Amino acid sequence: MPFEYKKVLMLGATSGIGWALAAKMVENGVSVIAVGRRQEKLDEFAKQYGSGKATVDTAAFDITKLKEIPNFAKEIFTKHPDLDCVFLNSGVQRHLDWSKPENVDLDVMEQEMLTNYTSYMHLTKAFLPYLQKQAPKPTSLVFTTSGLALVPIIYCPNYCASKAALHHMILAMRQQMKQIDSNVKIIEVYPPAVQTELHDDKHQPEFQGKGRSLGMPLDEFTEEAWAGLSADDNEQVPVQAVKTFMGFNGWEKERQGTMMKMMEMMKKSH
Ligand SMILES: NC(=O)c1ccc[n+]([C@@H]2O[C@H](COP(=O)([O-])OP(=O)(O)OC[C@H]3O[C@@H](n4cnc5c(N)ncnc54)[C@H](OP(=O)(O)O)[C@@H]3O)[C@@H](O)[C@H]2O)c1
Repeated sequence: MPFEYKKVLMLGATSGIGWALAAKMVENGVSVIAVGRRQEKLDEFAKQYGSGKATVDTAAFDITKLKEIPNFAKEIFTKHPDLDCVFLNSGVQRHLDWSKPENVDLDVMEQEMLTNYTSYMHLTKAFLPYLQKQAPKPTSLVFTTSGLALVPIIYCPNYCASKAALHHMILAMRQQMKQIDSNVKIIEVYPPAVQTELHDDKHQPEFQGKGRSLGMPLDEFTEEAWAGLSADDNEQVPVQAVKTFMGFNGWEKERQGTMMKMMEMMKKSH
């Protein structure tokens, strides 16, 4: 099955996974509105892909400006009433070491949680009604979490916590939408480590220049993620090691099975 949606708002499209998936979409005839804070990168994206098989628009926006989110959603949908997929993919990752509490910067932690989790809740609240209004047309909200939503690693525990929180929220949100036969599909993409700017020294100097070689090459990730997003069963798109080593096909399935059982038990007791 080809990717089901025709116009995608891609948040975090100025580099890495968001850029690569947005480029893949345009190559496959899917129109894209690219979002990020860096205007020069948005201009570069539009220049590179703007005369392709599908339309490209851009919007510079900082997702941590929570009060501006409702108006941002309104502006986007006024300009693009046919937007049928909102892809929340922006994110940051920071080191954090509790063995040296004097070095723990709570402002940095708060900013990481704000970017990776709280802003996503504000964006979801702002964008969902516009997607719901298009019923019965199928629409979707896509979230980029991480294999680290399932298994934490030690150098960036607040990042892992932000992704685990998002993962739990998504699992429940998906069932809520199913209970009302919603036209909005809730999709989760779980990348493993991928070679992007996420681990660059400008964000995590602790890597001392070695961050960029961490994980799988971006083009390999993009091929597998795009195949997953274009499959019939695309609600959950675990990539590479997330499927096996990090537990998606094992205990995560069991955990989600238990969630379904608890949902049925609660239904019966009400
Ligand atoms: N790379 C990995 O190993 C890996 C693994 C698992 C999950 N992920 C997840 O994949 C997603 C994409 O990350 P990436 O690896 O592609 O990293 P990246 O190359 O650093 O890209 C991050 C994107 O997020 C945007 N962004 C960050 N803060 C923002 C803000 N306040 N407002 C708007 N946009 C913001 C950046 O745009 P601007 O700077 O222009 O604003 C950029 O486009 C993230 O959610 C990340 O957690 C990555």
